[in-house]
Amino acid sequence: MKQFNRYLVTAALPYANGPVHIGHLAGCYLPADIYVRYLRARKTDVKFICGTDEHGVPITIKAMQENVSPQDIVDKYYAVIKESFASMGISFDIFSRTSRQIHHQTAADFFKKMYDDGLFEEKESEQYFDEIKQVFLADRYIIGTCPKCGNDKAYGDQCERCGSSLSPDELINPRSALSDAVPVKRKTKHWYMPLQNYEPWLKQYIIEDHKEWKNNVYGQCKSWLDNGLQSRAMTRDSNWGIKVPLKDAEGKVLYVWFDAPIGYISATKELTEQWADYWRREDTRLIHFIGKDNIVFHCIIFPAMLKAHGGFVLPDNVPANEFLNIEGEKVSTSRNWAVWVHDYVKDFPDQQDVLRYVLCATAPETKDNDFTWKDFQDRNNNELVANLGNFVNRTMVLMHKLCGGKVPPLHAAVKDAADDAIVAMLQEAKQKISDSLETFRFRDALSEVMNVAREGNRYLQEKQPWILAKTPELQAQHQQLIDNCLHMCLQLTANLAIFTNPFLPFTSQKICHMLKVVDRMLEWENAGSMKLVSVGYSLRAPELLFKKVEDEQVKAQVDKLHAGLKQSAAAQQQPVAQEAPPVAKPEIQYDDFAKLDLKVGTITHAEKVEKADKLLKLTVDLGYEQRTVVSGIAMHYAPEAIIGQQVTLVANLAPRKMRGIESQGMILMAEDKNGRLVFVNPAEAVTPGSGVS
Ligand code: 2FM
Ligand code: ZN
Repeated sequence: MKQFNRYLVTAALPYANGPVHIGHLAGCYLPADIYVRYLRARKTDVKFICGTDEHGVPITIKAMQENVSPQDIVDKYYAVIKESFASMGISFDIFSRTSRQIHHQTAADFFKKMYDDGLFEEKESEQYFDEIKQVFLADRYIIGTCPKCGNDKAYGDQCERCGSSLSPDELINPRSALSDAVPVKRKTKHWYMPLQNYEPWLKQYIIEDHKEWKNNVYGQCKSWLDNGLQSRAMTRDSNWGIKVPLKDAEGKVLYVWFDAPIGYISATKELTEQWADYWRREDTRLIHFIGKDNIVFHCIIFPAMLKAHGGFVLPDNVPANEFLNIEGEKVSTSRNWAVWVHDYVKDFPDQQDVLRYVLCATAPETKDNDFTWKDFQDRNNNELVANLGNFVNRTMVLMHKLCGGKVPPLHAAVKDAADDAIVAMLQEAKQKISDSLETFRFRDALSEVMNVAREGNRYLQEKQPWILAKTPELQAQHQQLIDNCLHMCLQLTANLAIFTNPFLPFTSQKICHMLKVVDRMLEWENAGSMKLVSVGYSLRAPELLFKKVEDEQVKAQVDKLHAGLKQSAAAQQQPVAQEAPPVAKPEIQYDDFAKLDLKVGTITHAEKVEKADKLLKLTVDLGYEQRTVVSGIAMHYAPEAIIGQQVTLVANLAPRKMRGIESQGMILMAEDKNGRLVFVNPAEAVTPGSGVS
């Protein structure tokens, strides 16, 4: 086994495009925090790194939706996310942002070194371009009809209605989400990392050398590697992100998945001048906590980048969790089906540990799992209140009542086997908890902690000091037995402070406060000791660790979830704002209208007009004749998409030359407030040449 002398633990950088929900916590932030708190208790040299991921399409899409700048979005959500984590006791050593200068510099230097070493392929490809906005369109920015289910709001990478993953070329009638224009293909140059070149090395690194990785992680990596890797573009066309540090790279930024993991390095640099010890020395153990959707980036792409660049340690483990569903349904931020952390903290003030407990006890460690408010209530009431809280409270109350509020001595003369069993049980529990934590089995570790409290309750029940002290006479007679029992229970309570510290830090602190012990007692090496609280020391009054969650609270939370869902559905259907009524044209007489010769025709041919971005040359069949019409709809319709389309033509409009082509009529189009043009045609197909009156 390799000997590590320091740890670097990272938790995935959340996109700063919205608040965090409990699925985020359960997926990676809570397990990472538990692990780090445990390492700190072991006096390990560890740094815990996180921050917000502030580049890429998720940010620009959100900015577009909220009609503000990407900078406004990341500033707003950085603050919200940071506060949510802090309020839940997630104890990062640094919570940085990828928009900081130090990160831009670090990521740009990383790219430049790889470029200078000749590690990128420069390739041209055709990508969709919005001619109105003059920008290349990321797949998410292309909207069209899903070929699988007919949803007309499918994205170029995915249809959210049927879940199919798509490519922009598969969409029917693709449109730009920015302008509604029909996107056109344009050539663009990018820098690709030939991941296939790293395949043999990756196979050795993962398949051979990291067989200990969790099954879900190992399995996903193996399947990527078995299917073969391909070159992947590490740059994008965008004006939001880290500029590609090359001369001929105007309008190009680093791919967000290139820059984001480098964020772990830049945040470490920001945190400590000794950053290189953590990133460059072979005796550092690098561990990435992530959710399952990030596996390929952390296990394949980032290690390949680190290897290619050279001089960095590689991830030694990537304990990714699966997803947490809510009340039987997948979390959906767009549908507002989520339990937001900031809402929880508001609704359950001072009950952070209840959520930490439930999320750890039901963590999706090996498969997706479900969070329900009923289960939250049951676990709180039956496990935290009835087991852990009950034991600590009974111990404190009885000690005040039967031992004068002071730690009683242990009388060797009346010590018995049950007392010895408690000592042995604690040693065994310490080992089991360590073993589980060190192999990322947080649920098992927590269950062992609860077992310690259960054993405490059993011991107290067996000793029944309240029976021994039924009358003052009896108490006087049994005081030594009573002392021993409460001495053991108090030492056990102090041990519970050590054991709960990684999982339930707020609770652990409350216990320390009652026992008047300092934080140093929480060091892991003290676990199992029966000398944690000193004999004769007077302790504080008992304070309840947990309180019951009532049925009404559960109902309120479930109602809130459904109300959020309804609200978001309604918001998505509502027009954004009430428009002012359009300005009316002056009144005309019927004779004026009757002068128009309106005819229905069918488009039989359409082509682009050279050097005119907006014009299409159409042939319209009127049955009795063919007309050539030049129409300004090229930004809205691709020529091949409108063959067979029925249109209404102003057939007696004087011919007019446009770009050298005689236009013999005008087709009618409706224009909505966003400037979108739609054909005005009969509701049902009619014979070409039919009149309109
Ligand atoms: O999936 C996400 O939320 C990404 N922002 C995670 C990035 S992790 C790392 F690479 F920075
Ligand atoms: Zn679909």
